[in-house]
Amino acid sequence: MTVKIVHKKAADLSADLVAVAVREGKETSGAVSHLPKAAHDAVVRRAKRLSFKGKVGSTLLVQADHHDLLLVGVGDGKSPEQWRRAAAAVRATASATRAATLAFALDDAEHVGDIVAPVLEGLLLAGYTFDKYRAKKDNGYTGPKTVTLSSPHLSDSARMRTIVENVEGTCEAVCMARDLVNEMPSVKVPSHLASVARTLARGRGVRCEVWQGARLRREKMNGILGVSSGSHHGGALIKLVYKPARRTKAKVAIVGKGITFDSGGLSIKPAKGMETMKMDMSGAAMVLGIMKALPLLAPSVEVHGFIAAAENMTGGGAQKPGDVIRFRNGTTAEVLNTDAEGRLVLADALCLAAELEPDCIIDAATLTGACMVALGTRVAGILGNDQRLVDKLIACGGETGESLWQLPLVEDYEEDIKSSVADIRNIGGGYAGTISAALFLRHFVGKTKWAHLDIAGPAYTEKGMQYLPKGGTGFGIRTLLAYLDAIG
Ligand code: BES
Ligand code: MN
Ligand code: ZN
Repeated sequence: MTVKIVHKKAADLSADLVAVAVREGKETSGAVSHLPKAAHDAVVRRAKRLSFKGKVGSTLLVQADHHDLLLVGVGDGKSPEQWRRAAAAVRATASATRAATLAFALDDAEHVGDIVAPVLEGLLLAGYTFDKYRAKKDNGYTGPKTVTLSSPHLSDSARMRTIVENVEGTCEAVCMARDLVNEMPSVKVPSHLASVARTLARGRGVRCEVWQGARLRREKMNGILGVSSGSHHGGALIKLVYKPARRTKAKVAIVGKGITFDSGGLSIKPAKGMETMKMDMSGAAMVLGIMKALPLLAPSVEVHGFIAAAENMTGGGAQKPGDVIRFRNGTTAEVLNTDAEGRLVLADALCLAAELEPDCIIDAATLTGACMVALGTRVAGILGNDQRLVDKLIACGGETGESLWQLPLVEDYEEDIKSSVADIRNIGGGYAGTISAALFLRHFVGKTKWAHLDIAGPAYTEKGMQYLPKGGTGFGIRTLLAYLDAIG
């Protein structure tokens, strides 16, 4: 998809599909004032008849002389998320009309430059499909070949080119992460994630190291080893490092849960609960996506990415309820439920991250069903030991349209994760499952500033909405990249 930025009025655009942004409550008339009188009046009547009012993402498709004309609502147009959702609606219409060329008349607002990025994100992310395993691809339509974004206040400046390139790179990273989440679990075993990591690092100035087998034992990665012990596929600790070319303003560690399939282990899940458990490596996919985009975005921040990869299965060697794991930092934990495996593998990676003494650690994990009960599928939980870090991440999520909601690290609930035989145990008291999981993780970050994102809800969508097609969403990548950009 080639992107062109032009300073033109809607009247001067030509494409198979021409979309025009309409603000809610503003008269439709203004948006189509460029049409000849008869056509203009027909559109206004049709808008009225169908009560098209410019609500975000609502559309009205009409036939103009030489092309399809689409009115698309952007609400009050004040937040980037409204433009992402409007762009997603435009992209859906492009598919429905099989438009080879698309033009989008954005707006005549002064700050239209800020709208280009979210619009492009909406178009690119909404156009994602995973059809690798389909015999019949979607009639061969793969989206518009060229997209023209226009406004009287836009021009094809160097700044615009950079914005376009950065958005394209970011969305490519998000789509790679989605591909990994949607990939079938028997393909994306831990060694597969390792080879994806090696490939994306190669030739791009990113360092990659992978620990497997004996090395995991030597390094006391006993959480990954314990969880992997019921599987034919050994676990892996994957490390990726990005260093800026010039000066470094901060050192950040990011950690992702990489359970490539979560059967629950011996504390086995019911069949229904297992259906989507290939998505249990979404935190790992987030780390891979970020590390892929960093060389292009080039923030002045050193980023250490850690992935704790394992398959949680029920084989003869599987860990058992009652087993005790001694972690790398000396902490011991009783495994009372093998389905609370995420915190076990994350503990290993968090120990390593903390040893680096970074400015902060941010982990992301599809950790608890309880978080979905609390916050649903659109909002991730965030917990942490540093309020400034948590606030900053929540603010970044507000910009990117990835909602984060803070839950408290309730000190009194530490009681719930005490064990009768070890230091701690891997399940809580039955309530506040997201909080007890985070309290467990806190035992492994030492004094480092740390934020934990429980992305169990928003990492995967069984419905498909706006610019999030069914399946993996790539949640967290855009927000963490925004954070790294802000501190770099
Ligand atoms: N991967 C699951 C959490 C999950 C559930 C993610 C549904 C996405 C959708 C995690 O490993 C898990 O099984 N958690 C248990 C913890 C419990 C045993 C303390 C849960 O949430 O039931
Ligand atoms: Mn589990
Ligand atoms: Zn899991």
